[in-house]
Amino acid sequence: MTRSAFAPLPDDAGYFGRFGGQIIPPELKRVMDEISEAYDEIRARDDFQQELAGLFADYVGRPSPIFHARRLSERLGGAQIHLKREDLNHTGAHKINHCLGEALLAKFMGKTKVIAETGAGQHGVALATACALVGIPCEIHMGQVDIEKEHPNVTKMKILGARLVPVTRGTATLKDAVDSAFEEYLKDPRNFLYAIGSVVGPHPFPKMVRDFQAIIGREAREQFQERHGRLPDQVAACVGGGSNAIGMFTAFLDDEGVRLVGVEPAGEGLDTPRHSATLTLGQPGEIHGMACYVLEDEAGNPLPVHSIASGLDYPGVGPQHSYLKEHGRVDYVTATDDECLDAFLTLSRVEGIIPALESAHAVAWAMRTAPTLGPDQHLLINLSGRGDKDADYVAARLSL
Ligand SMILES: Cc1ncc(COP(=O)(O)O)c(C=O)c1O
Repeated sequence: MTRSAFAPLPDDAGYFGRFGGQIIPPELKRVMDEISEAYDEIRARDDFQQELAGLFADYVGRPSPIFHARRLSERLGGAQIHLKREDLNHTGAHKINHCLGEALLAKFMGKTKVIAETGAGQHGVALATACALVGIPCEIHMGQVDIEKEHPNVTKMKILGARLVPVTRGTATLKDAVDSAFEEYLKDPRNFLYAIGSVVGPHPFPKMVRDFQAIIGREAREQFQERHGRLPDQVAACVGGGSNAIGMFTAFLDDEGVRLVGVEPAGEGLDTPRHSATLTLGQPGEIHGMACYVLEDEAGNPLPVHSIASGLDYPGVGPQHSYLKEHGRVDYVTATDDECLDAFLTLSRVEGIIPALESAHAVAWAMRTAPTLGPDQHLLINLSGRGDKDADYVAARLSL
């Protein structure tokens, strides 16, 4: 297979090789097919693309810059580290890219309510923001554990006018929030739109969210080329469901010389049950209407997962990542909670940038990798979000 075979996926049935699809009841399949058709038609329209491009520029503040982390690179004594600053977007993370896309799509489709789950709260805040802007009611389901951990985001969602639904079942984290939000959506799928928070779920969501996020890599590739006259040697991003990573990777898939690295959460260690390294230790299975790598028990039930970063603790992963792993185009590696905390504090103190705990996983990989390479090597990291939401938690945990 040639590398360029990666670009046109998924196929019409929503498959990336053997991953993805629509593993859902027939009634729901009809609804998903309608969304898929509407999406293909609406995204081809100039008025949709112009409105989205205008909002990306004037509302989100795109293009986000690339920052050369010189002091961090010098301190590590190896490769040059560059950060794609998605943390500077309005609402503080990459999530606003697909939330604006989904909210606009809901408006163009005449939907009456947008429903979603959230883990760290970034997707919830971004969606509540986009819905406020577009003028559509918004309902966010969030695990009780995450509600307590991510309090500032909870407050913001309420201020933005979203209805917040606490989820107490199961482990009261992201997977349970997805289940709960999906149940609400099924009550009236014709009038509601489920705005999924990552490149997961049944077709067309992995494709739609990827398309909206692909702006990250398109910009980054052009910016890097313009500034350095060449492409980076390695491009890395953290992987929860996989939206910021696929957004970054898509533009580079055909660049054979560019190594792509997805960083999964190793939590308290891969030899403990307290991790969320789906692609590293999981196996092909099914979850939330898609075929993908899954961390599951012998009976096929999703395992409880853990990461210090709420937005990364998900037992499934995007089908396109599952495909890219199997085809060897992206290397998936891990970083532990402790490495992530170290990266969080180091980036804050050496560059004055407080990263989200999710993004700190990618920074941790860069900190581990840079010293093994020469100064002519360039690592481009997607800094998917800012860490204000995590500041109190980290300060308490490290007794600062
Ligand atoms: C800042 C940030 N980065 C990354 C993620 C993980 O999501 P994804 O893997 O879809 O990019 C989240 C999820 O909440 C997040 O808030």
